[in-house]
Amino acid sequence: MCGICGVVGRRHATPIVFEGLRRLEYRGYDSAGIATLVDGRVERRRAAGKLDNLAALLKKSPLPGTTGIGHTRWATHGAPTACNAHPHGTERVAIVHNGIIENFETLRRELEAAGQVFETETDSETIALLVDYHLQQGLEPKEAALRALRRLEGAYAVAMIFAGHEGLMIGACHSAPLAVGFGDDEMFLGSDSLALAPLTRRIAYMEDGDCVVITPKSAEFMNFDGAPVERTIQLTALAAGSIGKDGYRHYMEKELHEHPLVIGQTLQRMVDPASRRVILPELPFDLAEVPRAVITACGSAFFAGMIGRYWLEEIARLPVDIDVASEMRYRNPPLTAGSLGLLISQSGETADTLAALRSLREKAIHIASVLNVEHSTMARESDVVLGTVAGPEISVASTKAFTAQLTVLACLTIATARARGKLDTLAEEHLVSALLDLPSRAAEVFNQTDAIRAMAQVVVEARDVLYLGRGSMFPVAMEGALKLKEISYIHAEAYAAGEMKHGPISLIDRTVPIVATVPSNALFEKTLSNLQEAKARGGRLLVFTDTKGAERVSAIAEQMVVLPHVHDFVAPILQTIPVQMLAYEVAVLKGTDVDQPRNLAKSVTVE
Ligand code: M6R
Repeated sequence: MCGICGVVGRRHATPIVFEGLRRLEYRGYDSAGIATLVDGRVERRRAAGKLDNLAALLKKSPLPGTTGIGHTRWATHGAPTACNAHPHGTERVAIVHNGIIENFETLRRELEAAGQVFETETDSETIALLVDYHLQQGLEPKEAALRALRRLEGAYAVAMIFAGHEGLMIGACHSAPLAVGFGDDEMFLGSDSLALAPLTRRIAYMEDGDCVVITPKSAEFMNFDGAPVERTIQLTALAAGSIGKDGYRHYMEKELHEHPLVIGQTLQRMVDPASRRVILPELPFDLAEVPRAVITACGSAFFAGMIGRYWLEEIARLPVDIDVASEMRYRNPPLTAGSLGLLISQSGETADTLAALRSLREKAIHIASVLNVEHSTMARESDVVLGTVAGPEISVASTKAFTAQLTVLACLTIATARARGKLDTLAEEHLVSALLDLPSRAAEVFNQTDAIRAMAQVVVEARDVLYLGRGSMFPVAMEGALKLKEISYIHAEAYAAGEMKHGPISLIDRTVPIVATVPSNALFEKTLSNLQEAKARGGRLLVFTDTKGAERVSAIAEQMVVLPHVHDFVAPILQTIPVQMLAYEVAVLKGTDVDQPRNLAKSVTVE
């Protein structure tokens, strides 16, 4: 959740680290700080709030030096104050940390008994004072770091610098990502390759239990016992320019406009347009043999999984269990060995989803993960990765990753249905054609921007909003409600439209708008009846439909957005786009911090 960036080399470290933090700010943004070595001394600058506050502090009080580490924080232990901001340290060492040290209370008691004095409420300071303790005992930095690392429990990525040791930085990780960037006479550490994108394309991804000792010319990888390990340098495809806003007001707006592109790119990887067949990466198990599927994920990725369930059950006739990962990991459901475990995650680092993955593995479930970040922890721990080709998603609110996940799940459904003998060649061609048509239809959604903005004018006045949908449109409604809550702070709840009369109908009046997704599918009439019931009670109906449904919807809706008519199979992918756009437009009207909404972080690497 936090971002780490570090450099040792020949250039002024602070601007390099600061720019890295800018790229990582999406991971956490409640406070930030940088430490460098100035004439061999550890110097730190830290500020509460966004990075701009740190920039102002650095302007007043510059930080020279060529060895530096920085951090952008999402608070877990201790309020987001300057004092609790990283780097933590003493006159001997400074550290930055991402994750949680689970045994910090025990360590803290021991260290206090040994005379160490804590200044913060964080778990992270324990690492600094533990390393410092070993330095005071006369150990060299590498030995002091390894000694400390062996005592840590929990999930962590950490970077350290040491007084009197210019050009030395030590990194380590366990269940949290950390990457080493190789430059020319300079080396870097970063929480992900995004941080390092403008600095180098040559990156080595660290693995659980790795420690690395870095100098401007070398990186020595080892385990926590100091035994050497080999890590290969890979060339990352990320270009510095691929992470700008490209003239859009927010990353979210840019990423919304990338929906057609990412759907197309993801299809390119999974579909042969000539034969109109789905070609999945080679699977280490047989889709024809899996008795059931278990889907788990968090947040928006979970809603993508819910749509996947509708598809797998209806088209592939495969029974599916689904639960949010934070429940799945503790629920201990009876599962059949050899089932298909489907984990869905943009980041591939979400702590609950990762824990669910591990618990499924213990039950001999085949692990297939739908992931956007190629070099993530989940990617390493899966039997097969079904990659979404969405590119970096910076806005905390997930948009394009969601439709890319759906695109992968749609392809997986087709492949599963074929393997299970539920889909003949003609039917597969038909579904694949619908998918291939999607990028163009998705581009047409943006013709509706004015209609969506008009809807936003109604929603922005509301305190509560109800979202309704039936069948695969129910998760679309859930996605719309989550997005609205997340970035505009307006309370929204989604219901399966048929459930409305079992309770939420009592909420309906002129002040609670109803947003419904109602394309002209088999459930069109049923959903329309539910909307009639709401209207009869004074409800204001804001409806997303398609060209086929427009006439009927216009008779009852106060406002509607008309999308191109597409095959039922792909309709949830298309309908998601305007629902996300509505949340965006409402947030813009409210003037909230669209890309970095309060209290949130992009990848939730704590439980
Ligand atoms: O990286 P992941 O896909 O695993 O993240 C899961 C959720 O945290 C994420 O979808 C979250 O709900 C988004 N902020 C929603 O916009």
